[in-house]
Amino acid sequence: MKKFLKVLLALSTACMIFAGCTDSGSENEQNTEATTQATSNENGQADGTDINGSGKLIVGTNPEFPPFEYVGDSGEIEGFDVELMNEVGKRLGYEVEFKSMEFKSLIGAMEAGSIDAVAAGMSITKERKLAVDFSDTYFNASQYIIVNKENQDIKKAADLTGKIVGVQEGTTGDVYLTENVKTQNIKRFKKGIDAVLDLKNGGCDAVFIDAQVAMDFVAANEDQLVCFSGGIDSEEYAVAFPKGSELVSKVNEAIAEMRADGTYKTIYDKYFEEQSDDETEDISLEENTSDEESKEDVKKAE
Ligand code: ARG
Repeated sequence: MKKFLKVLLALSTACMIFAGCTDSGSENEQNTEATTQATSNENGQADGTDINGSGKLIVGTNPEFPPFEYVGDSGEIEGFDVELMNEVGKRLGYEVEFKSMEFKSLIGAMEAGSIDAVAAGMSITKERKLAVDFSDTYFNASQYIIVNKENQDIKKAADLTGKIVGVQEGTTGDVYLTENVKTQNIKRFKKGIDAVLDLKNGGCDAVFIDAQVAMDFVAANEDQLVCFSGGIDSEEYAVAFPKGSELVSKVNEAIAEMRADGTYKTIYDKYFEEQSDDETEDISLEENTSDEESKEDVKKAE
C-alpha cells in the first residue's frame, strides 16, 4: 500500500475517534498549523522580495489533499507537490519550507507577504489570475464525484441537483457547483477528508473533489465508496506567485528541466503509479457518462 494511503487510513480512524468530526467542517476544523510547525519558518515571515538574500522559499500549502500534500507519519508535510517544490528549490538554490494553512487563506497570505509561493494542487482560474501569477502547468486534473456504493442515484454532475454535496471550501469544486448546479445544498468543509467522513456517515449524498484526491479517498474506503467523473474535463495545477514575481520564469525553467531529464517522471511515478499525467480515468462505477454528456446535463438542469 502506498504510504499516503496508510496515512489516510490513520487520519480517518483518528478523526472518527473525535466525536463531532463528522459535523460541518467549518465548525470542526482541526488545527493543522501545530502539527506542521516544524516545517514552517521559525520567524513565520516570508520575504517575497528578498528570497535570494534569505535563501529560503516559503511555500504555503494546505496539507489536506493527498497525494499532493498531506501530513505524513513523521508530522512533516509530504506529497507530490512537496517533492516537486523541494527539487525546484534545489535547482534554484533555495531551501524550501512549507507553511500549512487553510486552502482559502493561501492567496491572501501570499498577498500579505507571509509566504513566497503557493503549491497546493491549486488550479489556474481566471479569478485567481487577477491576484497571482501562475507557473506553467505541472499537473492536469479534473473534478470527480464520490458517493456511497449503495447510492446509485447519482451518476453524473447533473444528478447532484437537489442533493447535499460536500466540498472543500474555496476550491474549484466549490465554485463550479455554486455556479453551475444552483439548486443544491452545498456543505463546505475545510478538509476534504471531513467531507468524505460526512459522506460515509450519511451527512451528505456526494462529495465533489479533484480526481486524484477522490481516487485516494476511495482507495482508502473501497468497501464503501466509489467515484467517477464529475464533468469538468480540464483543470491545471500550477504554482502561484505574487504578481510580477521573477521566480515564475525561473521555476518554469526548473520544471521544464525536470520534465526533460526524467526527474518529474520519477516523482510522478512514486505517487501516481501507471496513470499518465493527463489521464483521469473513471473508476469503480460501471454506468457512467462522458464529461461532455455530464456538462450538457448540468446545463439542462439549470
Ligand atoms: N484544485 C482545486 C482548486 O484549486 C482544489 C485544491 C485543494 N488543495 C489543497 N491543498 N487542499 O481549487
